[in-house]
Amino acid sequence: MAPMYTEEVLEHFRNPRNMGEIEEPDGVGDVGNPVCGDLMRITIKVAEQTETITDIKFKTFGCGAAIASSSAVTELVKGKTIREAIEVSNKTVVEMLGGLPPVKMHCSVLAEQGIAAAARDYYERHPEKQVPPEVQEKINKLDKTDPHAAEEVVPSQHHEK
Ligand code: FES
Repeated sequence: MAPMYTEEVLEHFRNPRNMGEIEEPDGVGDVGNPVCGDLMRITIKVAEQTETITDIKFKTFGCGAAIASSSAVTELVKGKTIREAIEVSNKTVVEMLGGLPPVKMHCSVLAEQGIAAAARDYYERHPEKQVPPEVQEKINKLDKTDPHAAEEVVPSQHHEK
């Protein structure tokens, strides 16, 4: 049987980067997948002038792919501005991990959403700042992937004989 996970995934899973939670963060992103119940919290430190993410940590209660995706996304966005970080898609995360099995793609989406949620929180804490349009667009999408909406499209897995 072919291995389910690539070496990159296993490596990030075994040695997760930037795991934990930043004390007194500038932004917190809490996201979850209603289907599997996995949860991810992204905390960021942001340099006010440049809006650069100077530090980022994750806490993920979830599967190996979600942990590897969180670890990868923190490496991808650290040192980037919020505007640049928001461009990091789940596809980029998957590429960095050398691929994910199709049933695990949604785990990488969680990582992308975690960044958007942290950015949203950052701008909510700074109403005086203008949200860049591309960031706003991502935040709007976040609202559309409402957990309840996702629940509706998932057919029941329960089969009775
Ligand atoms: S199975 Fe839920 S995030 Fe991976």
